[in-house]
Amino acid sequence: MEEFQLLVRRLFLLFVTMFTLIIVLFVGLYLHEPASLPIDSIEEINSTWQPKNVLAELAAMSPQVKQGYLLISETNNHIGPAVDDTEMRFTGNGLACANCHLKAGSQVGSASWVGVTERFPQFGGRSNKIGTIEDRINGCLERSMNGKKLPLESKEMKAIVAYMEWLGEGLPKEMENEFKGYASINIPNKAVDMDSGKIVYDQECVLCHGNNGQGVRHMDASKGYLYPPLWGDDSYNDGAGMNRVLTAAEFIKSNMPFGQATWDNPKLTDEEAYNVAGYINSFSRPHKANTENDYPDKKLKPVSTPYGPWSDDFTAEQHKYGPFLPIISYYKEKYNITKTK
Ligand code: HEC
Ligand code: HEC
Repeated sequence: MEEFQLLVRRLFLLFVTMFTLIIVLFVGLYLHEPASLPIDSIEEINSTWQPKNVLAELAAMSPQVKQGYLLISETNNHIGPAVDDTEMRFTGNGLACANCHLKAGSQVGSASWVGVTERFPQFGGRSNKIGTIEDRINGCLERSMNGKKLPLESKEMKAIVAYMEWLGEGLPKEMENEFKGYASINIPNKAVDMDSGKIVYDQECVLCHGNNGQGVRHMDASKGYLYPPLWGDDSYNDGAGMNRVLTAAEFIKSNMPFGQATWDNPKLTDEEAYNVAGYINSFSRPHKANTENDYPDKKLKPVSTPYGPWSDDFTAEQHKYGPFLPIISYYKEKYNITKTK
């Protein structure tokens, strides 16, 4: 009987010890929690830092930042065809930078400039070298704006860069890449369907961009366009990123029809955006000289770059209108290069 009591007491002790150990373990884990606090606070910053409301801050801008803002939002009458002094005409069409970089470059999902000055210098395949933010701006000047380079030391170039820096003021370091680029689409595994593209255009785009794709000018024409043109002489040239079907499809899905679509609430399906991108890029536009020199390493050329040469045997037609997935697979298998556009 005594032996039995001893056994019970020992078992009891054993349970108490194990119970205590478990408690200690949980309390320990619980007390350990504060170590993860910094991560929590990063998340807190992430969800609170938002791009500026540019229009609301216009009055508070420094003169240089304000000049940068005017240059990118009313490009036509500052460094474009509407400027009297021909020496000061750097852009060759009536577009404004902000026609593609919406809300004056602050709109996420339209290749926003929030944080862009922190992301440069950066490697660029088109020139196969490390490029500065000024080089990247000049890239859009020569192609999207069908114009010529702004001198690096010009006060206009400095004002544009100052404006971009201002947009990213106070941006937490870990969020530098948060607002960049376009949201990707699932690339349809077929060529652009031109008839479907035209149907989407007539239903969703024609209202603003017009039957002939020429858009509508501002009442004060020197200010550029109310609805910018999508093709023809006053549009982006054939060397521009927007002239690639996949790039245009990404932009369109997240941003058009204007006022109805955002990157997190698009209106068109991936396939509709893809077909209408092919449709608008099927019309003629200004020609960029010397595009054969783009991408000195031809393997790095985006698959939907519609002009050659390429380092593959797919046809020019397929590079322009797809299907692109076979080209993407080819580069993956042959060179282990992962391409998304
Ligand atoms: C026709 C449309 C269009 C116009 C107009 C345009 N751009 Fe762009 N821009 C693009 C596209 C497309 C990209 C590449 C976006 C991508 O693939 O992520 C781009 C990229 C950029 C980038 C790099 C962004 C990044 O995060 O790497 C900068 C800077 C830029 N543009 C500045 C300008 C400036 C300044 C102007 C006016 C002088 C301008 N752009 C006009 C279409 C345009
Ligand atoms: C309600 C009017 C409206 C509709 C509808 C609309 N857009 Fe736009 N689009 C705009 C405006 C305005 C801009 C310039 C944005 C800015 O400056 O803030 C623009 C810019 C663009 C651009 C870049 C600038 C350029 O000229 O290349 C493309 C490409 C484009 N739209 C394509 C489309 C397509 C494709 C559709 C149909 C799916 C469409 N848009 C429907 C008003 C519209």
